[in-house]
Amino acid sequence: MRRTVIVALIVVIALGVFFIQACQQQDTKKKKQASAKKEKPLDLGTIDALPASYKSPEFNQPTEEKIQLGRLLFFDPILSGNKDVACATCHHPEFGYTDMQDLPIGVNGVGFGSKRQFKQSNDIPFTKRNAPTLINTAFNGMDEKGDYSPEAAPMFWDSRVRSLELQSLQPIKQLEEMRGRQIEEHDILPTVVKRLKAIPEYQKLFKAAFTEEEEPITETNLAKAIASFERTLVANNSRFDQFMRGDANALTTSEKEGMQLFIESGCALCHNGPMLSDFKMHVLGAAENEEKLGFLDSGFNNTFAYRTPTLRNLRYTAPYMHSGKLKTLDQVMTFYEDLNGKPLPNSHVSKDQLDSLAIKITVEFKSIPRIIEFLNALNDDKFDRTIPESVPSGLSVAGNIK
Ligand code: HEC
Ligand code: HEC
Repeated sequence: MRRTVIVALIVVIALGVFFIQACQQQDTKKKKQASAKKEKPLDLGTIDALPASYKSPEFNQPTEEKIQLGRLLFFDPILSGNKDVACATCHHPEFGYTDMQDLPIGVNGVGFGSKRQFKQSNDIPFTKRNAPTLINTAFNGMDEKGDYSPEAAPMFWDSRVRSLELQSLQPIKQLEEMRGRQIEEHDILPTVVKRLKAIPEYQKLFKAAFTEEEEPITETNLAKAIASFERTLVANNSRFDQFMRGDANALTTSEKEGMQLFIESGCALCHNGPMLSDFKMHVLGAAENEEKLGFLDSGFNNTFAYRTPTLRNLRYTAPYMHSGKLKTLDQVMTFYEDLNGKPLPNSHVSKDQLDSLAIKITVEFKSIPRIIEFLNALNDDKFDRTIPESVPSGLSVAGNIK
């Protein structure tokens, strides 16, 4: 009898405990659901691999002749006013088609990469902004779905020029980049064309590249050849690309964690699509380089907005931001971590001017090393680094860089 009472008691107690636990579980489940509802769903955007090949505009289909001519022009300082600066001076293969400087030195400069400086007695200013890499500019403007139109691809930190063809004549006209003081802006392109026409090898090469044309050495064809060469500078096989194409082992566990944190911290709100850029303008309030420039760069439409840069090949694009003010990825991450708490590094930008997506960024200090590991998995060293042994003008290859 006593045993039956004890058994019954145990059953009652067990049922009671079970009931209470069930209630508690129900409760936490409800709480979780409630908090999930409270959090606004983030628009994470998408990140993806680059495609295997690039598109060219209808009016400038690539041929081997055009590409090889474009390469020679790219390395030839004949395009600059004083014949001392080539495109490659600031976009050199050794530095991933950029230059390691915060603000580049074009005209009247001497030396290579971070060692480059102005010659004694100088009245040429620094170039206004940090030089972007030309690797993968074939894909500029690519959206989250991988759509893009090369004839309208945004160029420069403020997207002021569309397409590689239109971009490629701009540096030649710019005083501090390539033109110098000897030649007026409206004279420089006709001068360059005249110089090219006087070189037999260029006559031959332009003829071979633009077979249909009676007089192929023109400003337009100069632009087409350079753009055709630039489009070939593709690096689309980073370990991130391999992972996105299905190789689950291409990224380490901590790089995968970093990718998750990159998304959770809000980075992909702007750094999305295969280029890790939305190619839109955003006000972040990063530091300007006023001291060095001698004037204040005020960005797109004087709003201090700049275009989201690609995060591919950051190994080469240091120092960072349009101003080159941040030397390391650690400094960039600290900038983002501070964005919502601390005063903005650019004192001309107030908090309420900050981009509406930028205020959603939440970088925790402890996530920083992992995110940087992920960013490093976006590097791809396999791009064309061919440097011509000589250029048809006979001038020094890549300009005055010795
Ligand atoms: C003195 C250094 C210098 C020289 C020389 C130079 N560039 Fe640049 N390049 C820059 C800087 C700086 C920028 C960014 C300027 C800006 O955004 O306002 C840039 C931007 C570009 C871009 C835009 C990339 C993007 O993603 O927006 C392309 C393309 C480019 N340059 C190609 C060339 C070509 C072609 C030449 C030669 C005809 C050339 N550059 C000569 C410094 C230079
Ligand atoms: C609101 C859009 C936006 C968000 C969100 C954002 N970025 Fe950026 N990012 C930009 C813009 C715009 C620049 C250029 C700013 C400038 O030059 O002043 C930039 C620059 C950078 C650069 C420098 C690249 C170079 O080559 O100079 C890195 C690295 C970077 N962002 C990483 C990140 C990471 C990591 C996150 C997440 C913590 C993040 N970004 C979140 C828009 C954004």
